[in-house]
Amino acid sequence: MEDNDDKRRNEYVQTLRSKGGAYYSSYLKIPELLSLQQPLSRSEAIPNQEAHDEMLFIIVHQTYELWFKQMLHEIDSVREILSNVPMDDRGIVKCVSRLQRVIEIQKVMVQQLTILETMSAMDFLAFRDLLFPASGFQSMQFRLVENKLGLLPSQRMTYGSTAGGVGRGYCSYLRESDAETVTASEKSPSLFELVEAWLERTPFMVVSTDQKPSEESLPTSSEATSSSPAAPWLWWTHFQDAVSRMLQMDDESFLSNPRLNEAEIASARKEVAATREHFMSVLDAEKYEAARKRGERRLSHGAMQAALLITLYHEEPILQLPFLFLQALLDIDEHLTTWRYRHALMVHRMIGIKLGTGGSAGYYYLRATADRHKIFGDLFNLSTFLVPHRLLPSLPADVRARLSFAFGVSTNQSSSSSPPPQQHSTTISSSPLLPPHPLPASSDSSAKCPFGHGSS
Ligand code: HEM
Repeated sequence: MEDNDDKRRNEYVQTLRSKGGAYYSSYLKIPELLSLQQPLSRSEAIPNQEAHDEMLFIIVHQTYELWFKQMLHEIDSVREILSNVPMDDRGIVKCVSRLQRVIEIQKVMVQQLTILETMSAMDFLAFRDLLFPASGFQSMQFRLVENKLGLLPSQRMTYGSTAGGVGRGYCSYLRESDAETVTASEKSPSLFELVEAWLERTPFMVVSTDQKPSEESLPTSSEATSSSPAAPWLWWTHFQDAVSRMLQMDDESFLSNPRLNEAEIASARKEVAATREHFMSVLDAEKYEAARKRGERRLSHGAMQAALLITLYHEEPILQLPFLFLQALLDIDEHLTTWRYRHALMVHRMIGIKLGTGGSAGYYYLRATADRHKIFGDLFNLSTFLVPHRLLPSLPADVRARLSFAFGVSTNQSSSSSPPPQQHSTTISSSPLLPPHPLPASSDSSAKCPFGHGSS
């Protein structure tokens, strides 16, 4: 099959060459591209009225649309990779590097607003009346970016009036064909949903172990710590203990602080109790589900636990890429929010607090979207539930080995009692030119597809 594909490709190259090969402007469709900037103020109907800055206004918007197109190209490919279960281990590298590209585009998108800001509010007024009721609000590609990332229809700010007094849905401002495309994107699995499913498949949530973690590093109270050596290592139980210890230490530090008076101690302990309650909303599955139903959390409990595991133990080799993946999602959400704020500020200086050409409350509407239209809020909130490294339950040596790269170790060498990672690294691939392929250090099924999260 591959031979056939190669053959066809070679023939295609020959055909292209026989026709003289590619030519810059034909390949890039430059004439077509350059014919697409048509200012309304240049119309023959209003001779000598061309607004100089309308050209900039058009080019800047068109450039954004091209960047949106590239972003969608990357987001779609990441969604496709994540849709294949089990996912190929190599897929996660592609996901991370493509999302990094989206992030770089977003940085340019924020920066690019300064070019438009060289247009003054007065210069804008020279052609603004010609634009009604068109608005960036009608950018179909922007809506696709939002939906494919995972913005929920129920999260959206609405504006305009309806019989029931609720604002009109955003699709009602679009042409029918655009509205259909956008509505379809609401129904296909978003990046948020695919990431959630990928997190839920994370191995290592429960790991069977032959070894106990070192006694001094462990919390004392849990059942898990006193279980038999062959029992599964439940990191979540250990984590709960670590949280208890941390809060206990906070509590004690206030009690023993000679500088605090009784009232201050009481108030500080109240804070600790509130923090404990807050932690419980995540540690306790039922409370978590209740918060989810109230719309305070979006990720499933299992996915959130996995995201915590990846974040807490992100230095372990096998978790490094998943961690970068989660960080990239945070970056994308953050840059999108930054763009929303920057765009809102630009709008404020251009039109003050006038209504937008699309009919919204302009600046106020846009500021509200910056606050409300966040997608990966759960990943941001994760930091609330981190505990310092020194309090983290230490991993049993064999679990640690499974979370490490095992360079040059054959699978039959590895077992659940395989040596710790330092010993593996002595058998690194002999060729300095070839990057050694990391092998899972265990034959345990949970480690077979560590990045792809193939096992459930
Ligand atoms: C002079 C420059 C601009 C002004 C005054 C402006 C104004 C506005 C206003 C008032 C809105 C709210 C909807 C409405 O009532 O019209 C809006 C939305 C929007 N604009 Fe702009 N805009 C400008 C430039 C841009 C640029 C360069 C882009 C790049 C594509 C853009 C993209 C958008 C998008 C995507 C929305 C929808 C935001 C949302 O609903 O969350 N705008 N704009």
